[in-house]
Amino acid sequence: MTKTVCRYSAVIRILCVLLAAVFLSGCAKQELDEPELLLGFSQLGSESAWRIGNTRDIEEKAEQYGVSLMLENANQKQENQIAAIRRFIAYQVDVIAFSPIVEEGWDNVLLEAKDAGIPVILVDRDISTENEDLTRCHIGADFYREGVEAAEYLIRKTDSEGMDHVRIVEITGTEFSTPMQQRQAGFMDTIRDDERMEVMESVNGDFLKSRGAECMQDLLERYGNDIDVVFSHNDEMTLGAIPEIEKAGYRPGEDILIISIDGGQDAIDVLKEGKINCVVECTPMLGSALMETALKLKAGEQVERLIHPKEEVFSDEQDLTKIGPRGY
Ligand code: AHR
Repeated sequence: MTKTVCRYSAVIRILCVLLAAVFLSGCAKQELDEPELLLGFSQLGSESAWRIGNTRDIEEKAEQYGVSLMLENANQKQENQIAAIRRFIAYQVDVIAFSPIVEEGWDNVLLEAKDAGIPVILVDRDISTENEDLTRCHIGADFYREGVEAAEYLIRKTDSEGMDHVRIVEITGTEFSTPMQQRQAGFMDTIRDDERMEVMESVNGDFLKSRGAECMQDLLERYGNDIDVVFSHNDEMTLGAIPEIEKAGYRPGEDILIISIDGGQDAIDVLKEGKINCVVECTPMLGSALMETALKLKAGEQVERLIHPKEEVFSDEQDLTKIGPRGY
């Protein structure tokens, strides 16, 4: 009798151990299968090497941080971004992030996200709204400072060359976007008191290489030899404009000073060749800050309202051999 009881209790103990093992392995599997965070991200398009580098960085960092990413590319259309945000809300993602193509027109969809209790992070560009509560945080460059840096370089350079009249053409990024408005404001505010500076014309190149070429061709036809400086709001447009300047018989970087923004590898290579004079950095590497902020929001923690990455200025005033690979 005692022997039988012992045998039963041994069998029960083994069964318990097996059951516990099955239960625990189930839990472990569930933990692995269920990511800590589901993040919906609406990218605005693929208009530049900057944008492609930004998308790649966000994808890579999501993987590193164990974040499950729902990524949608809006192909340069605000209505596609609004539809993507609505899909993220319907899917009940934990956090929504997006890079708004323009500043206006987001209040309605962001109110829907707020009502659904989903926190929203702005990446790269900002929005214009009277309701600050619609978003929790903005992670992106200080575009105004970039415009200031571009102008400060121009003032130093034209001082050192003893120029007493500086005629500038500006090729701007997408109309009504944050970088277009802020870069222009920073640049204009900084040159305003310098009487040598004359902005002959500002034209919209939409951050695209093809538009940069078209704009430059047109500017050269109309102003030709009068152009002393091209201030271009991104590398893509600069790289489109430079061959047009050469085709028209001018030497970019010498006959015409070229100032660009972004700092992608192709532009840095051209800077090293002497055909660009200055590139103000705008880094697309925003992925780590995005993942860290999204994880904090999911955990109910406080986050900083504004996060600006650290950025540099590269120009012919420095030893350019020290610039390392750019990664975009
Ligand atoms: O919003 C950042 C800007 O958008 C970058 O300067 C540009 O290259 C991109 O398309």
